[in-house]
Amino acid sequence: MGATQDILKKAEDVSTKRPILEIKDLHKSFGNNHVLNGFNLQLFEGENLVVMGKSGSGKSVMIKCLIGLMEADFGSIEIMNKDIATLNHNELDELRAEIGFLFQGSALYDSMTVRENLEFPLRRHRKTLGNITDTTKLVMEALESVSLVHAMDLMPAELSGGMKRRVALARTLILKPKIILYDEPTSGLDPITAKEIIELMRSIQKQYKTSSLIITHDVDCARVISNRMILLVDGINYAEGVFKELAASKDEKVKAFFK
Ligand SMILES: Nc1ncnc2c1ncn2[C@@H]1O[C@H](COP(=O)(O)OP(=O)(O)OP(=O)(O)O)[C@@H](O)[C@H]1O
Ligand SMILES: [Mg+2]
Repeated sequence: MGATQDILKKAEDVSTKRPILEIKDLHKSFGNNHVLNGFNLQLFEGENLVVMGKSGSGKSVMIKCLIGLMEADFGSIEIMNKDIATLNHNELDELRAEIGFLFQGSALYDSMTVRENLEFPLRRHRKTLGNITDTTKLVMEALESVSLVHAMDLMPAELSGGMKRRVALARTLILKPKIILYDEPTSGLDPITAKEIIELMRSIQKQYKTSSLIITHDVDCARVISNRMILLVDGINYAEGVFKELAASKDEKVKAFFK
């Protein structure tokens, strides 16, 4: 298939597919600080969607609204055809078991070993998952995906920054989520380690067939990982497109991202 046909086919696929996750007209303010002013986003199955925005633009706020850690002032959020505002506590919990969330930083539990960190989500979602007899197998599998089986019995303090990020990723993978939300997966890492994490994210997309929403202000990360991008400016989805299109834009606010 030629390149043009390929692009047309992709466009067709996207337009006929239902999004697996959709944000409509999201508003969130803190007093006079109007952070999100009608933000929209659609994540389609199997894609890596990157959201870029400068520091303080509301990326983390948006992702926290998505998983119900923060309540939006207005707007709707649908995940796998469920409007999260209509879900009760148990239903929300069930849904969360299908969504992996890699927090900004790594947010490992410092007093637990790597193995215990990975077992934590299994225990937390016991009700949804049913009785799991072989947690060791699941822990090993997840650690294998990030090449860290040998670190199973170490404490977080004994790990490098890159290793911590990989353990956090393994902890996300252990529930075999359909959707993964990454908040700044490469921040605070040196360029080489950042590259390794990006490669890992790509292999995870292939291995687990996940749909991912990736928040970053790392242009290199966006270029390598994104199938599509949204630029968050002034609280809205200011521009959308594939990396090449956006990088070639003449719009001053868009250009500022690629300098
Ligand atoms: N709990 C809160 N209470 C009050 N203001 C908040 C709260 N959380 C975030 N904000 C404000 O919302 C704005 C957006 O914050 P957010 O953390 O989403 O930025 P960000 O785009 O993720 O930035 P960064 O790239 O630095 O992580 C900031 O002005 C911040 O001060
Ligand atoms: Mg943030």
